[in-house]
Amino acid sequence: MKIRAAVLEQFGAPLEVQELELAEPRTGEALVRLVACGVCHTDLYTASGADPSGYAPTVLGHEGAGVVEAVGEGVTSVVPGDHVVTLFSPQCRECVHCRDARTNLCLAIREQQNLGYLPDGTTRLSRDGEPIRHFMGTSTFAEYTVMPEIALAKVDREAPLDRACLFACGLSTGLGAAINTAKVEPGSTCIVFGAGMVGLGAVAGCRLQNAGRIVCVDLSPERLALARGQGATETLEATDDIVARIVERTDGFGADYTFEATGNVGVMRQAVESARMGWGLATICGVAGKGETLDVVPRFLITGRRVAGSSFGGVKGRDQVPQFVDRYLAGDIDVDAFVSHKLALDDVNRGFELMEAQDGIRSVIDFA
Ligand SMILES: NC(=O)c1ccc[n+]([C@@H]2O[C@H](COP(=O)([O-])OP(=O)(O)OC[C@H]3O[C@@H](n4cnc5c(N)ncnc54)[C@H](O)[C@@H]3O)[C@@H](O)[C@H]2O)c1
Ligand SMILES: [Zn+2]
Ligand SMILES: [Zn+2]
Repeated sequence: MKIRAAVLEQFGAPLEVQELELAEPRTGEALVRLVACGVCHTDLYTASGADPSGYAPTVLGHEGAGVVEAVGEGVTSVVPGDHVVTLFSPQCRECVHCRDARTNLCLAIREQQNLGYLPDGTTRLSRDGEPIRHFMGTSTFAEYTVMPEIALAKVDREAPLDRACLFACGLSTGLGAAINTAKVEPGSTCIVFGAGMVGLGAVAGCRLQNAGRIVCVDLSPERLALARGQGATETLEATDDIVARIVERTDGFGADYTFEATGNVGVMRQAVESARMGWGLATICGVAGKGETLDVVPRFLITGRRVAGSSFGGVKGRDQVPQFVDRYLAGDIDVDAFVSHKLALDDVNRGFELMEAQDGIRSVIDFA
C-alpha cells in the first residue's frame, strides 16, 4: 500500500514527508494505522547525525499509538481493531532476559532492529523498489507501519491514543525508573534531576510509590512548576553547589533515591553524590553524548551508595505499558499536562524546533 511518511534523507537536513510503499505484514507481524506519535529527542538525535549508529534514508518516529489493521501469519496476541502502543523495546516473553524479572532488555530481535530491519532481515518500507530501513523497529512518523507483534502493547480502547502514545518512551521510562529500577519505598526521600518528559515521569513514579519527599531540580522555573503538578513536594533551581544544598536539606546525608534525567554526565555525577551514604541509590536515565564518561570518586560507592542504569525504565512493555495506561485511565497519572502541541505529519520538523526551544514537554503528531 501507499503511505505518507517523514523520511530522514540526509543527516542534519529537515525530514521530508513523502509517499512510500509499505508491504503486507509477514509472519509474526502486524499492520498498524498510526493515530498519534510523540516527537522525542532520540528522533532529533538521529536526524542530526550525532548518533554514531544512525543510518539514512529511514522513517523516524518511535512514540506511536494506533490501531491494528491486519496481522500476518501466526500472530496470536493482537487482532485487527486492537489499540496498541508501539515498543522500541520489545518483549518476546521467551528469551533469557524476558524470562528473568531483573531486566527488560529482550534479546529476540535486537541485532536486526539496530540495523533497521524487521526480524527476518528485510524491510516492509520501500521507494521505487529500493528498500527503506525502519527506525528503532517502529518508524511511526508514518500513516501506517508494520511491526513485530512482540513490539506492540495492547491497551484499553477507552484510552485516547494521543495520550497513550507518550507511554511508548519517555513517560514510561521515568515511571519505570522509580517503580521498577529503584523500587522506591514508601516514605522515602527522592531527588529527580531534570524535569523533561523522563524526569516528570520519575516524579510521578515516586509519587505512585508513596515517597515522602520528592525534590525536583531543573534549570527552568516553568518546568519545575510542572514537576509540582506531578507530585514534587519541593523544587530547586539547579546551581553548581546543588549537591551541598541537597545534602543540607537531607540532614547532612543525602537522599534515599536520586534520579538523573538530563543526559548530562555532570548531573549524573551530582545524582551519585547526592545519594545517601549507606544505601542511597542513583538511577541514571539520561543518554550521554558519544564518548562521554561518568566520573565517580570511588569513596562514594565504598560508603554505600549504588548506581543503576535504566533503559525504558526497566519496563517489560507488553505487560506493563497496558498497566500504566490503566493507571492513567483511573486518574493516577496526569498525562494531559505533557501534551503541549498537536501537529500534522507535514509539520514534523516544527516538532523538532519546539523541542530545541524547550517549548512545552511533548509535541504530538495527530494523524486524524
Ligand atoms: N533510558 C532511556 O530508556 C531513555 C528514554 C528516553 C529518553 N532518555 C534520555 O533521558 C534524558 C532526558 O530526556 P527528556 O526527554 O526528559 O529530555 P528534556 O530535554 O525534555 O529534559 C531534560 C531536562 O533537564 C534539564 N537540565 C539540563 N541541565 C540540567 C542541570 N544541570 N540540572 C538540572 N536539570 C538540568 C533541562 O532543563 C530539561 O528540563 C535524555 O538524555 C534522553 O536521551 C532515556
Ligand atoms: Zn523517545
Ligand atoms: Zn525477549
